[in-house]
Amino acid sequence: MRMRNLYRKPTTLRCNAGSRCYSASAVIWSLLGCLLLFHLYSNIHHKHGEGREVQLRVTNHPQFRELQQVEEEIIQLPPQKGKRSPRAAKRRHKRVTPLVDEFLDEDSRLRHVFFPGNNSAIDPVKVTGNDSYYYYPGRIWLDTDRNPIQAHGGGILYDERSNTYYWYGEYKDGLTYRAHKRGAARVDIIGVGCYSSKDLWTWKNEGIVLAAEEMNGTHDLYKSNVLERPKVIFNDKTRKYVMWMHIDDANYTKAAVGIAISDTPDGPFEYLGSQRPHGYESRDMTVFKDEDGVAYLIYSSEENNVLHIGPMTEDYLNLMPVMRRVFVGQRREAPAVFKHQGTYYMITSGCTGWAPNEALAHAAESILGPWETLGNPCVGGNKMFRIATFLAQSTFVLPLPGFSGSFIFMADRWNPSDLRDSRYVWLPLIVEGPTHHSSEYISRLPLWSRVSIYWHRKWRLPQGWSTFK
Ligand SMILES: *[C@@H]1O[C@H](CO)[C@@H](O)[C@H](O)[C@H]1NC(C)=O
Ligand SMILES: *[C@@H]1O[C@H](CO)[C@@H](O)[C@H](O)[C@H]1NC(C)=O
Ligand SMILES: *[C@@H]1O[C@H](CO)[C@@H](O)[C@H](O)[C@H]1NC(C)=O
Ligand SMILES: *[C@@H]1O[C@H](CO)[C@@H](O)[C@H](O)[C@H]1NC(C)=O
Repeated sequence: MRMRNLYRKPTTLRCNAGSRCYSASAVIWSLLGCLLLFHLYSNIHHKHGEGREVQLRVTNHPQFRELQQVEEEIIQLPPQKGKRSPRAAKRRHKRVTPLVDEFLDEDSRLRHVFFPGNNSAIDPVKVTGNDSYYYYPGRIWLDTDRNPIQAHGGGILYDERSNTYYWYGEYKDGLTYRAHKRGAARVDIIGVGCYSSKDLWTWKNEGIVLAAEEMNGTHDLYKSNVLERPKVIFNDKTRKYVMWMHIDDANYTKAAVGIAISDTPDGPFEYLGSQRPHGYESRDMTVFKDEDGVAYLIYSSEENNVLHIGPMTEDYLNLMPVMRRVFVGQRREAPAVFKHQGTYYMITSGCTGWAPNEALAHAAESILGPWETLGNPCVGGNKMFRIATFLAQSTFVLPLPGFSGSFIFMADRWNPSDLRDSRYVWLPLIVEGPTHHSSEYISRLPLWSRVSIYWHRKWRLPQGWSTFK
């Protein structure tokens, strides 16, 4: 998330009464939401597409073929309201699509489509049998204590020692407010949330593994600062779990990375401090641990105009004095890096604050570049959905062990008026070998495999995926 040019909109929380005011409006919104749900549901039609089946090259498992069926999503936008606020007009001027415009409108009659309510929450404790393991992008997702998962801007570590997945992310279960009139919507730092799972669906809350600093106002983690996009990798040599994260002040002028370590994946992590990598600004960032054990920091820099990539030192606690500048002038953020058959891939978003925009896939033979842009990886849904990354922003791409070329694309559907209620959009991402089908994505660059993120309203990993080889 970046601060300039970001989408700014008054929230319903502008009065001074703080949380009281907030809970009153929440009740009203819940009531309105219920009413609208009944009245407007008929506005929405969903339909499964004809299922243009893409030839599967990665794996011939039939359940993976299902994930590659193109699923259409028809969203009937309500007629435009007679009077548009100057603010809305200004937004349109910025060529935001009508769908994104609707998405950002807190009064939208489609609010329940973008942010479905509690009654449709995914509850792995309650759901059993054949209904298990389904992901529903955008729905509230409960942990095993039946609280909404708080792991925004997150990433997943597979811990080989315990054969367990750990999901780390921003714990944002606090009040959304603005530090000052022109500031971005924010939640005070609470800390980094951590959840564990064996099946990537049932998540146990392991607590806050790196907590905000409550008292010391000069500390990086002081609550009024910013902690975003925490990512954890394991160092095979030091046997430490190392967390890197975006550290900033409320105005996003510090633009640094913070580093923390732990002996165990479920913390607590010890905060070691922050730095400006290679002496440059660093905002949205990620880390990538390569097969040879070398790890890299990838970060948006130079006012978000350029992405920087550089290797870490062997202990992952610092950076080597090597850095490459990529996508110069292209303004990409929210990087998520993965690798398949020796080729590096990256998904990025544009820079529009909390508002969704078009994702791009990139590929490179060396992680330091040169990187080539392949195009928008989103498949299915509808055009407006695809150019808004299904109303979400990339945060991580998780490889599925045993299924070469199959990944889970993890993204955040930010809710700028109530950031704690931001949702997770997980979808299958498939890297397909060079194909002779003429394709809008690769026709220009036949050298690279195609990267596709398939929209599904409901999907799950092939049953028994974790035991397939
Ligand atoms: C879901 O329930 C919680 C408390 O039970 C409430 O605070 C929240 O506003 C609800 N969210 C929605 C989207 O209905
Ligand atoms: C689950 O699905 C299988 C195969 O489709 C079916 O035979 C079985 O009856 C289902 N079980 C339940 C509880 O619905
Ligand atoms: C507050 O934090 C700063 C920066 O981490 C540190 O140098 C200082 O010692 C801390 N002060 C106290 C009282 O803990
Ligand atoms: C952030 O910017 C606002 C407005 O420009 C200013 O009043 C405030 O002091 C700044 N805060 C910090 C922490 O720099």
